[in-house]
Amino acid sequence: MKDLITINDLSTQDLNSIFELTKELKKEKAKYHDVLKGKTISLVFQKPSNRTLVSFQVGMYQLGGNSVYLSPNEINLGIRESIKDVAKTLSRYTDAIVLRTFEHKNVLEMAKEAGVPLINGLSDLLHPCQALTDVYTVKEKLGEREKIILAYIGDGNNVCNSLLYACVKYGIQINISTPKGYLPNSKVLKESQATAHANNSAVNIFEQPESAVQGADVVYTDVWASMGKEDEAAQRRKLFKAFQVNKRLVSLAKRDCLVMHCLPAHRGEEITDEVLDSKNSVVFDQAENRLHVQKAILTILLKGNL
Ligand code: CP
Ligand code: NVA
Repeated sequence: MKDLITINDLSTQDLNSIFELTKELKKEKAKYHDVLKGKTISLVFQKPSNRTLVSFQVGMYQLGGNSVYLSPNEINLGIRESIKDVAKTLSRYTDAIVLRTFEHKNVLEMAKEAGVPLINGLSDLLHPCQALTDVYTVKEKLGEREKIILAYIGDGNNVCNSLLYACVKYGIQINISTPKGYLPNSKVLKESQATAHANNSAVNIFEQPESAVQGADVVYTDVWASMGKEDEAAQRRKLFKAFQVNKRLVSLAKRDCLVMHCLPAHRGEEITDEVLDSKNSVVFDQAENRLHVQKAILTILLKGNL
């Protein structure tokens, strides 16, 4: 692994290595306080963030390293300076770059030009750090349950795309239900469907969210209007109404199902307070795991392993 751009580039073995290390780093936090001593990462963010920004900063600190946050004002990517020149400059100062951006091609260009590892901290197309964490969390909570079904309800967005790649690599069946015209990216869907069978997984699309959650071990949702789509929010609220994750919908899944959401949540839209705050909800454990999983990713990319 040189970069983390998409989970599609990772083998099941890569996922296992990341997760084994995650487990160890989570259990033995103090033991690994200087693994990345002397290392610094750049955090180039063109969109807001709570979890991704804080967990990368704290993660580097806990591993003995440092981080530099560069907001849109500093870098003004592609306007003040080209992606190429930003990548080349930051590679002279820091040991890895985390990029949160709009168009996915920015991630590809930054990775191509950078002399150091590039981590995709979210693009319009993908959110690999999130989906790796989600699969880790599912496994942590449900152990070795033989067959796991994750139902994703709502917008076929960046989180959904990365979940598709992660689930099929890890033998989790994924049921997807979105309004018409809001399916996940067609290439991602095709690639996931093509590899699902070999990994004892499956990708199923349902028109009705009620059908998608039948027998589900996990019910997952995300905002209806992602960052950059705010001007469509009102229209989407109408279109997505029947796809709300509420008590009625969750009652159709397994009784002990996990409720997951990458956060931030728009309470009362894609998910109700009642469900988000219910005993089935693991959203804050999920958020915490971003820290542990990303510490493992940083360690592997910057050091090879422990
Ligand atoms: N889930 C997630 O990536 O959250 P932030 O947008 O707050 O980083
Ligand atoms: N789909 C959301 C995820 C936020 C973490 C967005 O892109 O805004």
